[in-house]
Amino acid sequence: MIREYKKEDKKQIDDIGQLIKSDYIFKESEQSKCLVFEENNIVVGFMVYLQTEDNVEIYDIAVKEEYQQNAIGTKLLTYLELAIQASCSKIILEVRSDNEKAISFYLGKGFIKKAVRKKYYQDGENALIMIKELW
Ligand SMILES: CC(C)(COP(=O)(O)OP(=O)(O)OC[C@H]1O[C@@H](n2cnc3c(N)ncnc32)[C@H](O)[C@@H]1OP(=O)(O)O)[C@@H](O)C(=O)NCCC(=O)NCCS
Repeated sequence: MIREYKKEDKKQIDDIGQLIKSDYIFKESEQSKCLVFEENNIVVGFMVYLQTEDNVEIYDIAVKEEYQQNAIGTKLLTYLELAIQASCSKIILEVRSDNEKAISFYLGKGFIKKAVRKKYYQDGENALIMIKELW
């Protein structure tokens, strides 16, 4: 089941978020929103995004390792696309250039590589800007 974030989810999201960054901490904000994927009362995946006037930026998406490759990431993305499609024409995100799994996921979902931000991350890794045009 996909639902909106509740305060009680924070610990589980922080734990899953460490797949993205070892010191991941989910920060609640007025602007960004968080969707969670729950199975048997356990949060197994989440997505954080920011919707602006005509586009959406995905900040984070992660699925617990043992639940990966079961279409949970796909379902989170599809849910977001359906929710925003009337008002937003594109989805934007940035991903580490060495994150092959995530890049392969995004390419499979119709994102294209748009630009590279050289040495964007603290360890010198590049960031890849990816975009999906919805209409
Ligand atoms: C990216 C991520 C959210 C995808 O979630 P998921 O639920 O596993 O994805 P789905 O099952 O819906 O989609 C599977 C697709 O993702 C990609 N993928 C997922 N796991 C993969 C792996 N181990 N190796 C290569 N590609 C992989 C493939 O393109 C795959 O398509 P295929 O099954 O046709 O080969 C998940 O891998 C994850 O949590 N990664 C760690 C966190 C992260 O790096 N997030 C991105 C931050 S920008």
